[in-house]
Amino acid sequence: MIWKGFCILMSRKKRIRQILWIIVAVVMLVLTGCSDKKEPEDKVLRVGVVTYTSDDPFINALADELKENLKSMETKDMKIMVSIKNGDDDQQDQDEIVEEMIDAGCDVLCVNLVDRTAPSQIIRLAKQNEIPVLFFNREPVWEDLTQWEDLYYVGCDAEQSGIMQGETAAEYICSHPEVDRNQDGKIQYVLLEGEAGHQDAISRTNYSVKTLIEQGIHLEKLSYQFADWNRGQAENRMNRLISQYEDSIELIISNNDEMALGAVAAYQKAGYEQDKWPVIFGIDGLDDALEAVKSGKMQGTVYNDKEDQAMQLAKLAVEVFKGEDTNRKQLKAGRYYVSQYQQVDSSNVDEFFKR
Ligand code: BGC
Ligand code: CA
Repeated sequence: MIWKGFCILMSRKKRIRQILWIIVAVVMLVLTGCSDKKEPEDKVLRVGVVTYTSDDPFINALADELKENLKSMETKDMKIMVSIKNGDDDQQDQDEIVEEMIDAGCDVLCVNLVDRTAPSQIIRLAKQNEIPVLFFNREPVWEDLTQWEDLYYVGCDAEQSGIMQGETAAEYICSHPEVDRNQDGKIQYVLLEGEAGHQDAISRTNYSVKTLIEQGIHLEKLSYQFADWNRGQAENRMNRLISQYEDSIELIISNNDEMALGAVAAYQKAGYEQDKWPVIFGIDGLDDALEAVKSGKMQGTVYNDKEDQAMQLAKLAVEVFKGEDTNRKQLKAGRYYVSQYQQVDSSNVDEFFKR
C-alpha cells in the first residue's frame, strides 16, 4: 500500500517534471528566434579595387568616386568595406595583390589591369575562388572576358572619343583661320599618344586624325610621341619638339588631358606668348583641363564620364554580391557597360565643373 502510494506520487512528479521541461524548451525556442520570421543576417560586402598605378589622376579620381558610391550604398543590413590598392605598373605585382585580396576574404574585385592583354592569372584565381571581377578602363579582349561568366567590363567606346576630339578641333580650326599661322593651307600638328597597346590610345589617335581629315582639314604631321598618359613625360617630349620646331607647331592632339597639360606647361616655360602657341585638345575633362579650356590655354577636351563609370561599377558590385541582375540585364552582350563621352569647349565648359 505504502509502496503503491509512493509510486503514484513519483509518477505525478515525473509528469510535472516532463511538463516543466516542455515549457522550458518552448520558451527557449521562442527566445532563440526559431519562429517563421527570420532576422536579417548581418552582411558585409568586401570590395577590392586594384588600379594599374597610383600615379594617374583620372584613375585616382575614378577610384575615389567608386569608394564614395559604395559607402553610400551601405544599408543597416549590409556593411560595405572598400580597399584600394595599385599594381605599381607591373602586372605580376598586380596579380599578387589580387591574390592577397582574395585570401583576405574579398567578395568582389574591381580591376584596372596593368596590361590589358594579360588578365589570365587574375581570371584563373577569381574563377577558382568564385569572386566576380569587374574590369574597368583597360579593356580585356573578348576571348579573355568570356573565359568565365562572372567577368564584366565598365568603360567607354574609345572610337567615340577620337571622333569627338576630331570634330571639336575641326570646328575650332574652321572658325579660327589664324590657327594656320604660316598660312600655307595646312595645319602642322603633333600627336601625344598615351601608351602603346592601350585601346584608348590606339582608337583616339586613329579616329581624331581621320575625323579632322574627313572634315576637310589639311594636316601635316610633324611628330607622334608616346608619353604614357603622363604630364611630366609629355612636357619633356614637347620641350624637345619646341626646340626643334620653335613656333611652327599649330595643333596638338593629345590622347588625354594630362599630356595636353604637359604641352601647356612646356609652352609656358619656353616663354612663348600665347599667340605663338598651337591650339591644344585633350580628353578626360579633369578639373585642371577644364580650367585650361576656360582660360583659353586649351581649346577643347572630351568628357570621360568617371562619375557614370564609378556609379555603374558600384551598382554592379552590389548586384553581383546579392545575386541580382537589374543592371546586369542591360549590359551589352551581358558583360559590357559603355559610358558616353561628351564634347567640351569654351561654350559649355562651365557645365562640367564639379560634376
Ligand atoms: C584616360 C587616361 C588614363 C588611361 C589609363 C584613359 O581612358 O583617358 O587619362 O591615363 O585611361 O588607363
Ligand atoms: Ca600651317
